[in-house]
Amino acid sequence: VTERSFIMVKPDGVHRGLVGDIIKRFEQRGYKLVGCKVLVPSRELAAKHYAEHDGKPFFPKLVDFLTSGAVVALVFEGKDVVKTGRTMIGATNPLASPPGTIRADFGIDMGRNIIHGSDSVESAMREIALWFRADELADYTPVA
Ligand code: CMP
Repeated sequence: VTERSFIMVKPDGVHRGLVGDIIKRFEQRGYKLVGCKVLVPSRELAAKHYAEHDGKPFFPKLVDFLTSGAVVALVFEGKDVVKTGRTMIGATNPLASPPGTIRADFGIDMGRNIIHGSDSVESAMREIALWFRADELADYTPVA
């Protein structure tokens, strides 16, 4: 199924210069980049993004962290990109992620885990609508 996923390089990933590598991994896999921007998220945007974690003990720190610097918000499109993207990213805890995944290759910390990827097609649609206006997403056919 051709679908879209919301992928975000978090402030630690941007700070460490991992943006290019992360985009490259998705491009190499054959996914089409249809949205891309850099911004420092507001607390309101961060809280909406993590709404499902509101009330959990780590929620305030999560919002502090996401708003602590620039993030790169990305939308990739392609076959099973939500599920494959999650596989490429690895587990929430980098130490539990298999070698070769983005979090295992670059991360050691549960909170600062470099990257976010939508966990379902429904989440992806909600997150893309939250982070992007419709006219910020490119509708195009890649030239062969
Ligand atoms: P992410 O997959 O982007 O979505 C939720 C985030 O919450 C997760 O990455 C972690 O960074 C963070 N998180 C989840 N569980 C914990 C936890 N127990 N302690 C701290 N941060 C957590």
